[in-house]
Amino acid sequence: MLLEVRDLHVEFHTRDGVAKAVNGVDYSVDAGETLAVLGESGSGKSVTAQAVMGILDVPPGRISQGEILFQGQDLLKLKEDERRKIRGAKMAMVFQDALSSLNPVLSVGDQLGEMFQVHQGMSRKDSKAKAVELMDRVRIPAAKERVGQYPHQFSGGMRQRIMIAMALALEPELIIADEPTTALDVTVQAQVMDLLAELQRELNMGLILITHDLGVVADVADKIAVMYAGRIVEQAPVHEIYKAPAHPYTRGLLDSIPRLDQKGQELYAIKGLPPNLLAIPPGCAFNPRCPMAQDVCRTDVPPLYDVTESPVKRSSACHFWKECLHG
Ligand SMILES: Nc1ncnc2c1ncn2[C@@H]1O[C@H](COP(=O)(O)OP(=O)(O)OP(=O)(O)O)[C@@H](O)[C@H]1O
Ligand SMILES: [Mg+2]
Repeated sequence: MLLEVRDLHVEFHTRDGVAKAVNGVDYSVDAGETLAVLGESGSGKSVTAQAVMGILDVPPGRISQGEILFQGQDLLKLKEDERRKIRGAKMAMVFQDALSSLNPVLSVGDQLGEMFQVHQGMSRKDSKAKAVELMDRVRIPAAKERVGQYPHQFSGGMRQRIMIAMALALEPELIIADEPTTALDVTVQAQVMDLLAELQRELNMGLILITHDLGVVADVADKIAVMYAGRIVEQAPVHEIYKAPAHPYTRGLLDSIPRLDQKGQELYAIKGLPPNLLAIPPGCAFNPRCPMAQDVCRTDVPPLYDVTESPVKRSSACHFWKECLHG
């Protein structure tokens, strides 16, 4: 397994108390595989990714428990300089907002080239040629002429391609893309997503794709992890989850997707709000919003049940997963 996150807990020590942002996340991704991570705002998707990349704000953040195994090695046991070598070279991240992630006063070519100069000791001239090659690879037209331009001279979609080029520069084994297309127009979104998926296949990388967009997920992901209040509540292969979710929260998310064949009908929305992470409700964190909740849901935290019924493994943290799956 390329990456395996086991029982990860992350908390933030704030003035108001301890916010439990990640509460026992388990997920894994293999080479050539795409894992989509879904969930409402504040569910801990980005914080988990930051912990994997080693870019968590510490303090106020703290990893209180868990393991992050990358190619079998626990990253949490490494020294910061060892960790730094892995970051960029073996795993890289694509963020939502390219404009604030790119340096405004450095040309795009210099920023791309820097990757090779810093990590591989390449000369300035050679690294510039590499930068052009990368820009070609992410299909920026006239790369050779544009390599000296600054981030603001590119459109949003092109800037996002440059971010992807940066992430790919050292041919990492794992890419984490945190809402890589959210800031773009719908048509550009699809192009950037297609590009990312294509490069991922070509380079046989593991890809963790964090997104709100269930529509995107169906096309590119192999499996889905659904997060709620800092936990994975359901994990399954994509086609299985679309056929029949095994958690009421996943069902709620699926029912909230606008569908062309139901135009004009009122869109379903999950009632209520995600919990305050300073005071997560007892039992199942989703119980106050759950249409299927029973007494046990208000007292007992559901474990992540193995709900595999076909040859492919899937899991759900719902006491009533059977009713959900077959109901
Ligand atoms: N630096 C920080 N200090 C304090 N709390 C933080 C910090 N970073 C994140 N959190 C808290 O951790 C929780 C999880 O945040 P996270 O960014 O992982 O959510 P998310 O699932 O990525 O949401 P979104 O879809 O909005 O990006 C949030 O409640 C957030 O307030
Ligand atoms: Mg986020």
